[in-house]
Amino acid sequence: TTGGTDDQKRRAAERAAELVSSGATVGLGTGSTAAFAIRALGRAVADGADVRGVATSFASRELAREVGIPLVSLDEVSTVDVAIDGADQLDADLNLIKGGGAAHAREKIVDAMADRFVVVADPSKVTETLDRTVPLEVLPDARTAVAARVETLGGEATLRRADRKDGPVVTDNGNLVLDCAFGAVADPASLATDLSATPGVVEHGLFVGVADEAYVGTDDGVDVRRP
Ligand code: A5P
Repeated sequence: TTGGTDDQKRRAAERAAELVSSGATVGLGTGSTAAFAIRALGRAVADGADVRGVATSFASRELAREVGIPLVSLDEVSTVDVAIDGADQLDADLNLIKGGGAAHAREKIVDAMADRFVVVADPSKVTETLDRTVPLEVLPDARTAVAARVETLGGEATLRRADRKDGPVVTDNGNLVLDCAFGAVADPASLATDLSATPGVVEHGLFVGVADEAYVGTDDGVDVRRP
């Protein structure tokens, strides 16, 4: 969650939810912006739409249940028609940084499976060059080795700690999160390749070439962006 308003987020998310046709399998993203889309889909289901959701996190599954969207588990599906998910930052090529909610591993699986992956965001997320920390989900035993590798790649890794617990954030998959500061990422594709090649990294939060469109909610409409 950054500087956007709820109205901006809602506009983007509700427009994206309109893309979902009856019969569709929908990827349900994580975060405050995607939550508006899940709520809109819940209203469509209440009005008779026949959709099934694939949740990207514990939180999105819980919200989908609350609003009455029938769910299928990720391991049961081989295709997703539309995925609607937020991002922490996006550039003009629709490269994304995700994982602010530590959900990026499942998000990447679902978003990449989708025939159409629509990012929903507010203008505070849009940047010329990605420069937020890149979250890495890592196997707990690999955290020191991965942090050392991040340093040789020019970054600095910080273990994400929990707010209301003495200890680290543990992901839905039982792993740890390293938030890695690389400064401005000049070549996201190359950094993504290096991170993917690091043993112990379950998934990194750079999404390169995954998003098909971005819906950016503004104060009076929705700005549709394509790579
Ligand atoms: C979850 O891990 C992230 O990838 C989210 O998609 C991201 O943090 C977006 O959340 P907001 O819509 O709340 O900013």
